[in-house]
This record gives sequence, structure tokens and C-alpha cells, in this order.
Amino acid sequence: MAGGQGTRLGSSDPKGCYDVGLFSHKSLFQIQVERIVKLQRLTEVKFGLNEGSVIIPLYVMTSGPTRLPTESYFQKNEYFGLKAENVIFFNQGVLPAVSMDGKRLLLESKNSIVESPDGNGGFYKALNDNHVIEDLQKRKIEHIHMYCVDNILVKVGDPEFIGYSAMRHCNVSTKVVRKRNANESVGLIVMDQSSSLKSPSPCVVEYSEISKELSEKCDSDGLLYFRAANIVNHYYNVEYLSLMVPQWISSRRYLPYHIAKKKIGVLNVESGKFEKPEQPNGIKMEQFIFDVFPSVSMDKFGCLEVDRSDEFSPLKNGSGSGSKNDCPETCRLDFLKRCTRWVKQNGGLLKNDDADVDVDVEVDALVEVSPLTSYSGEGLKHLVDGKVFKNGDVL
Ligand code: UD1
Repeated sequence: MAGGQGTRLGSSDPKGCYDVGLFSHKSLFQIQVERIVKLQRLTEVKFGLNEGSVIIPLYVMTSGPTRLPTESYFQKNEYFGLKAENVIFFNQGVLPAVSMDGKRLLLESKNSIVESPDGNGGFYKALNDNHVIEDLQKRKIEHIHMYCVDNILVKVGDPEFIGYSAMRHCNVSTKVVRKRNANESVGLIVMDQSSSLKSPSPCVVEYSEISKELSEKCDSDGLLYFRAANIVNHYYNVEYLSLMVPQWISSRRYLPYHIAKKKIGVLNVESGKFEKPEQPNGIKMEQFIFDVFPSVSMDKFGCLEVDRSDEFSPLKNGSGSGSKNDCPETCRLDFLKRCTRWVKQNGGLLKNDDADVDVDVEVDALVEVSPLTSYSGEGLKHLVDGKVFKNGDVL
């Protein structure tokens, strides 16, 4: 999913093109694609297949504003090693912005209204409108892994997650991490037991929609009662999607519009100028991808808790935003710390500028491991065992 406009990040380029300052200066897209390239190769080796025979296609959901720059970025970089025919771009839809009372459309210019992407819940309509499910079926693909472009640690196409979901015959699964603290801006995966008429169902309570009291509630072990943080990282069974998508997109019951009051730039009809207001002046509407969860039966829904330091570090806020979390600096550090852990676990030694050998990874030398070298820490022993690495080394 790469259709978000990255407003909080403050960059005009698509988020996937962002360079968080790794030693290699690879972008999020490059890291993600290289993981696919590596996964294809690992599979070929494991099953004794010829090089190039395993294909894991990448479907990139873009939106009006991110489509062109994303596609040309991939073209310019020769798809980072994938074949162009296996990278499929498709656009999500848009929804109009309306005035605060919901009665007027807002004008962007004399002949256009203000529109914005329809939220990540637009995913399902986009799959339908762009015939993505047919393409998956044509390629005989049974399982898909859906993830957000903003997560620098994402294990794209994660075989463990797909295996977990396929072996349990799940229709939909989701990964979660422990919520960092009560204030973290993450949605929560919960089980809805509120209706005596209906069996319990999975759902997500979004961070903007939970009370302070509930988000701070603890259990008897002192852990947050609601702590399964949604990281928007899903498995879908393709056959199930082909049956459900037409239903999900045909009724607002499954995918309602969530509203956000925003400062929206509009045309001032009197002055003829485009103006950005100081205060919220309108409403943008978005659909949320997880709103379909309640229609999945509990026994066909998987939820896998994963280690945050291994799998989740999203890029949400800009460097200068004052936020100490989910910014380029934290993404860079989390990525490099994970690489450094792998090197240490495989017997590599780290040398920092103070000449200490085997220093503590938390505070000292950091190295980068290319996804083309290792997908998830495997295959490093022969490269690193007993060798000394210094800060900034790239393997
Ligand atoms: C989202 C989740 C939240 C979760 C958090 C974890 C939703 C509605 N909320 O919040 O529960 O805990 O991520 O990081 O999913 N996107 C599109 N098109 C859009 C809007 C977004 O493709 O129209 C994509 C973005 O590119 C991004 C992802 O969806 O990859 C998440 O969007 P974002 O707006 O950053 O979600 P959050 O508010 O952080």
C-alpha cells in the first residue's frame, strides 16, 4: 500500500522513495524489492530450481498523487532487479472533500473540486476496479501478503506468516506487535463480543476512536489490557478475496466513511486565489482497510504477534516534526540495529572508533546488511564469523 500522501512526513515524493539515511542510502522501495529478489533466490536454492524460475509479483497500490512519481522511480531504477512485468501498479480511488456541515463540495479551482485518496480501505475497490484478483488467479497465486510501504522492517512476502496462515486455513490474518505505551498512535486488534445475537468477531479499534480510559486500562500483570497493536500487515487467501471483495465494496455496512476535520486548501471564489486556511475548514473522508475484519469468522482469522524490533518501525513523521518516534532517525536506527544484531548472532565482531572490539550493539558501531545478502539474518555465518566490522560497513 503506497497510496498515502505522507502529509505528516512533509515530503512531496512518495513515501517509498524516502531515503532515511542508511549507509547505502537505499529507499524504502529499494529495501522492500530487494527482499523479494532475495526471497525468490532463497526459494530457488531450497527447491533446486533454476535461477529466475520463482516469481513473486509485487502489486503496488498508488493513488492519483503518488502514481506517476512511483512508477517513474521504479522505471528509472530498473525495478531494482525485478522484471517490469512482475511489478504491477494500480490506483486506488478518490473521494471529494466537503464543507464542515457536509453540504458543499469544496473547489480546488474554477473547474475542479478538492479530492483525496479514499483511504487504505480503498484497497478492496481498487483490487476490483483494476482486475487485480483476476491477475492473481491467472498467475495461480493463492496467498497474498499485504503491507504498508512505510514500514522499514517489513518482511515482504514473509514465508513464516504465509505458512502460519495457510496451515491454519485462515482467510485473513494480521500481524501485531505489543503497543509501546497507552499513548502510541496505533489501532488495536480486539475481539468484539458486544452483541449477544452475533458470535464474537475480530475487529480494529482505531487510535482516534478509543477513550483515554480504555487505552490506559491494565490487566492483573500490569500490561495494557488492549495491547495488540495493529501494524497493517495482512495475509489474504485469494479465493476468499475473490468471493468477498464484491460484497465488501457494495455496501457501506462493511466499509463506512471515517471523517477527519482538516485544513483544506480551497479556491477563494471572490479573490480567485487558492488559499490554505489556519483552522480546519472541511472534512475529508477515508475508508479503513481493517473495517472488513468483522465479516471474517473467528476460526478463519489469524493473529500473529511478532517482535517489534524485528518487524515494525514505520516512517510517519518528518525529521523536523519534533516527534521522537516513527521518524527517519528511528527508522534508520531500528534497521541498522537489526542488521547489527544479525551480524553479532553469527559471530561477527564490531569495532567502534574507540577501538573496543565486540561493543554493545545498543550504543555503538552499526553495520548494514543488504537484503540481497540476507532476507532475515540467514546465511551470514560464513561471511561474518570471527571477522571485525566497523561502524558504517555494508555487507
Ligand atoms: C495506520 C492504521 C493504524 C495502525 C498504524 C500502524 C489505518 C486506518 N490505521 O494508521 O491502525 O496502527 O497504521 O502504522 O490503517 N495509505 C494508502 N492510501 C490512503 C491512505 C493510506 O495507501 O489513502 C497507506 C499509506 O501509504 C501507508 C498505510 O496506508 O502505507 C497507513 O496509512 P497511514 O495514514 O500512515 O496510517 P496511520 O494513521 O498511521
